[in-house]
Amino acid sequence: MNIAVVGTGYVGLVTGVSLAEIGHTVTCIDIEQSKVEKMRKGISPIYEPGLAELMKKNISNGRLFFTTNHEEGFREAKVIYIAVGTPENADGSANLKFIDQVAKDIAQNIVQDTVVVTKSTVPVGTNKRIYQIIKRELLNDVRIDTVSNPEFLKEGSAIYDSFNGDRIVIGSDNDDASLVIEEINKPFGVPVYKTDLKSAEMIKYASNAFLATKISFINEISNICELLGANIEDVAKGMGMDQRIGSQFLKAGIGYGGSCFPKDTKALIQIAGNVNYDFELLKGVVNVNRKQQALLINKLMDRMPSIENKKIAVLGLAFKPNTDDMREAASIIITDELIKGGATVVAYDPIAIENAKGILNPEIQYTLSLEEAIRDSEAVLILTEWDEIKNISLDVFNTMKYPLVIDGRNCFDIDDMKEKLIEYHSVGRPSAFRENKILTM
Ligand SMILES: NC(=O)c1ccc[n+]([C@@H]2O[C@H](COP(=O)([O-])OP(=O)(O)OC[C@H]3O[C@@H](n4cnc5c(N)ncnc54)[C@H](O)[C@@H]3O)[C@@H](O)[C@H]2O)c1
Repeated sequence: MNIAVVGTGYVGLVTGVSLAEIGHTVTCIDIEQSKVEKMRKGISPIYEPGLAELMKKNISNGRLFFTTNHEEGFREAKVIYIAVGTPENADGSANLKFIDQVAKDIAQNIVQDTVVVTKSTVPVGTNKRIYQIIKRELLNDVRIDTVSNPEFLKEGSAIYDSFNGDRIVIGSDNDDASLVIEEINKPFGVPVYKTDLKSAEMIKYASNAFLATKISFINEISNICELLGANIEDVAKGMGMDQRIGSQFLKAGIGYGGSCFPKDTKALIQIAGNVNYDFELLKGVVNVNRKQQALLINKLMDRMPSIENKKIAVLGLAFKPNTDDMREAASIIITDELIKGGATVVAYDPIAIENAKGILNPEIQYTLSLEEAIRDSEAVLILTEWDEIKNISLDVFNTMKYPLVIDGRNCFDIDDMKEKLIEYHSVGRPSAFRENKILTM
């Protein structure tokens, strides 16, 4: 099948490459010229395990193409996937300007009957809006159908997820269009769940909101554990053994970030509000997450009331491991607070430093060595649980001026830290102290 994918971000590029890998001929379209030039050479603009290899393979197979030209990209396409961003408006609602523009691009350029598939996360009713825009602006006498096919990939394992997803949701009010998309996806071997347009759109928001709720829930339990002296890791394990609860997304930490949960939770509150429904539970989830992001700074301030001119090492900048995505990463707020307090911030991340430079406070210093970030620092803050950070030799913390480690991701065993005489504060677990006093040096 000849397919076009519009937007080559995390979702569009992974979709295009995966569809090419299962045998389709795919043209990916993006408005960013420099990105397209890179991709044509087989260079992935994002870090995603396995992506660059599959890109190169399918470019040389002659199944994967890149262009900035919608007319060229749509010329042969029987199916067009929309995978552009749906960022957050100031009030939390989803901004549909990129979606509307693509609908116009489609209307003005298609020359044959086309199924338009929305991969982007869009509020309930948006596929209908896309249909109406295309119908209104169509230049040629062709038929269009719309299908909602929300994306569930996880950054950091997006390629794996394409071939091993839990389900592919296909929503349409037209059975024939739905069948076309089911056929396209068959080689993935992932279970397909078919429903109507609106329900498919809602499945995506409801799924993300539920996962965010699980995270905020376990974070609240972890805060209570800390006050009571219980251990959240044991509590989560014991809870997760109940199959009704499940063990995933029960990891206490410093809150969720990334390009989806923060915006999608707020958008769903708006979507509900638009039909006069007050989604109180989800509002709580969002507020808990906001508070949780301040946790590490509060823990640091408890132990070190002044951070002025102190070297603070920040380990991990991306919003989660195995990605270079910095959108809504906890590091943005935390490093800002450190700089405001007058600290000298030295940051390390194995992959995300280049992206971080464009986003974080310019006063931050970066290093490509974990050891160098830690050496002579007066506190270490751990924000992302990269394997490289989790597997570090604990002795390296004894190269600090004073070994104070504040870990937002529970990377280390408390007893191991005690044994090495490292003062260690994590999330929802008892602390390990070396000297029980406020640090004033
Ligand atoms: N990132 C994720 O993990 C993830 C997972 C599931 C769903 N989603 C959803 O998928 C959508 C895309 O997310 P993303 O993270 O890939 O976005 P992104 O911002 O990384 O990429 C969007 C791309 O679209 C391009 N674009 C914008 N307008 C265009 C146009 N008119 N024609 C061609 N290209 C255009 C941009 O240049 C950009 O490269 C969003 O709705 C998001 O909520 C994202």
